[in-house]
Amino acid sequence: MRILVIGGAGYIGAHVAREFLDAGHSVTVYDNLSSGLVQNIFADEEFIEGDIMDFIGLIDVMRQGFDAIVHLAAFKAAGESMLRPEKYAVNNMSGTINILNAAAESGIKYLIFSSSAAVYGEPEYLPIDEKHPVNPANFYGFTKLEIERFFGWYDKLKGLRYAALRYFNAAGYDLNQRVTGLEQNPANLLPIVMEAACGMREDVCVFGDDYDTPDGSGVRDYVHVTDLARGHTAALDTLVRTGSSLTVNLGGGNGISVLEMIESARRITGKDIKYRVTERRPGDPAKMTASSEKARELMGWKALYSDMETIVSSSWKVYKLSKQRAE
Ligand SMILES: NC(=O)c1ccc[n+]([C@@H]2O[C@H](COP(=O)([O-])OP(=O)(O)OC[C@H]3O[C@@H](n4cnc5c(N)ncnc54)[C@H](O)[C@@H]3O)[C@@H](O)[C@H]2O)c1
Repeated sequence: MRILVIGGAGYIGAHVAREFLDAGHSVTVYDNLSSGLVQNIFADEEFIEGDIMDFIGLIDVMRQGFDAIVHLAAFKAAGESMLRPEKYAVNNMSGTINILNAAAESGIKYLIFSSSAAVYGEPEYLPIDEKHPVNPANFYGFTKLEIERFFGWYDKLKGLRYAALRYFNAAGYDLNQRVTGLEQNPANLLPIVMEAACGMREDVCVFGDDYDTPDGSGVRDYVHVTDLARGHTAALDTLVRTGSSLTVNLGGGNGISVLEMIESARRITGKDIKYRVTERRPGDPAKMTASSEKARELMGWKALYSDMETIVSSSWKVYKLSKQRAE
């Protein structure tokens, strides 16, 4: 099939594009390179530099004829979204409305969307399944939830079938180091730990060590980025097979604490990664873990690479490579 991957030069998008290419599909990436990297564009895919705010540009591209769109283009820093909601309203919301309208006008049948666990907000029970109430704790999560609601209407009114994939914390790198672009200005734990291991930063900030968790630091669900990417090909197969839209969690089902992640990285990298404990961040829950049972039932998906060892070692290989190249 012909797949348009919007945001395909980014961290997750590059892995998703690689997975579709490996599965024998033809891939075109559309990205404005605001945080995406040329380094993440593969020789066997087409690249179009463009912005989702450019409706005419989107229509021009989509008229080439695609069977499906994967939409990953967004701003994603939850903290920043509380300080600059307008930035997130425009790029995440208006940008997606442009994509929906261009897709409907171009007769595209299937759309796969990067949603987020941020739609749930403070957990009421664990592990979080899709029946958990949605109550975003930040503006970023609100944009993802509102976009999911738009999809429901475009499904009913325009026949656009969608898969909203609610990712938990994406981590790790392609096991064969085919994606080598480092995450830009990371706000998530593992790339920060890797930057500390490479000497790109002094230490790692641990936000609170007095939570009600075994070691006092926050516990999160990490899903290996290749598992996430596999979720997109599985979602497309499912949309084509069933003709019905779906909303599912994609999580690793692990529950790894911040201190466990740092400890594992120290062991795997052999580096003395320093950390310092600071205040808790408002809105951070003690623990968040995912149930991906629905993805297993509907799409036959389960995480294969989301153990801490594989996540940390696959990241370290890429960071080490990048460090060696820079020296
Ligand atoms: N990283 C995670 O743990 C995580 C978790 C949940 C959901 N998500 C979602 O997954 C998606 C991808 O995240 P990522 O971690 O790969 O981030 P990323 O920043 O690496 O990728 C986003 C890509 O979208 C592109 N982009 C942004 N705005 C654009 C615009 N206006 N026009 C065209 N391209 C644009 C960027 O250049 C970049 O290549 C995002 O939608 C994010 O909200 C990520």
